[in-house]
Amino acid sequence: MEESRERDVALTAARDAGKLIRDNVNQSKRVSTKTSESDLVTDIDKRAEALIRNHILQAFPDHNILGEESVEPGTEGLTHALAETQEARHSWIIDPIDGTTNFVHGFPFFCVSIALAERGELKLGVVYDPIRDEWFVAEKGKGATLNGEPIRVSQEKALSESLLASGFPAVARGRSKKDNGFFDLRREVRNIRTAGSAAMLLAYVAAGRLSGFWEIDLNVWDVAAGVLLVEEAGGRVSDTLGRPYDLSVRHILATNGLIHDHTVNALKKTGTTGFE
Ligand code: IPD
Ligand code: CA
Ligand code: CA
Repeated sequence: MEESRERDVALTAARDAGKLIRDNVNQSKRVSTKTSESDLVTDIDKRAEALIRNHILQAFPDHNILGEESVEPGTEGLTHALAETQEARHSWIIDPIDGTTNFVHGFPFFCVSIALAERGELKLGVVYDPIRDEWFVAEKGKGATLNGEPIRVSQEKALSESLLASGFPAVARGRSKKDNGFFDLRREVRNIRTAGSAAMLLAYVAAGRLSGFWEIDLNVWDVAAGVLLVEEAGGRVSDTLGRPYDLSVRHILATNGLIHDHTVNALKKTGTTGFE
């Protein structure tokens, strides 16, 4: 991979998308729903994705691009797009705004997430927080940085001293029996945060601000950049049963590594792996 060129393109695209997003936080937006009442998209999500695509295609016209706002809705469209991504020589995986619900409400926790995979293997990950101007960047084999400084995962060894984060999938209203497990798990750890941007929470695991993150039913664009960040910062990523990560994993667990097996066990015990 021509790291520096691809990295430069990802950074330029994220910077321009970040500016668009930041400039529109307090402006009125056109909001519509996707798969459910709580699954939102705005005109800014679409414009940000188009802008990122243009940057990539200008530099690399033959690269594949998987962008959240360009995937055909429904399982079939997603399966097809994922297969293409896993096979492509180069595939960019874009979430133009991860944390759209926060963006719509003006809750300042959202980011641009851009990853590059080569034949299904993650090579580059950029998570950009346009509000705090924080740049989380990872390159395969080269470590992870925050604003240019190397970052490492945290050092907690016990769940009782761990701060975990998670999120709730954008499903229809109503409580499922499975939600109870979340509260059972809370008793095993120091505390649990949900902040509404999987990509940013993964970047926080990489930076040692969280001990771990898990969530059920995420898409590849929510996590691809964050996964490489955690791995390159010395952490571990798997599915919620502890099996190795690949781009098709939807139930994800990322930790500092030290608490990984304990967390898998706690997720199993409390019925929060998403597999039951
Ligand atoms: C969402 C965020 C959120 C997670 C949802 C995702 P979006 O992505 O990552 O944290 O809980 O499951 O869909 O829709 O804001 O890009
Ligand atoms: Ca997302
Ligand atoms: Ca999004």
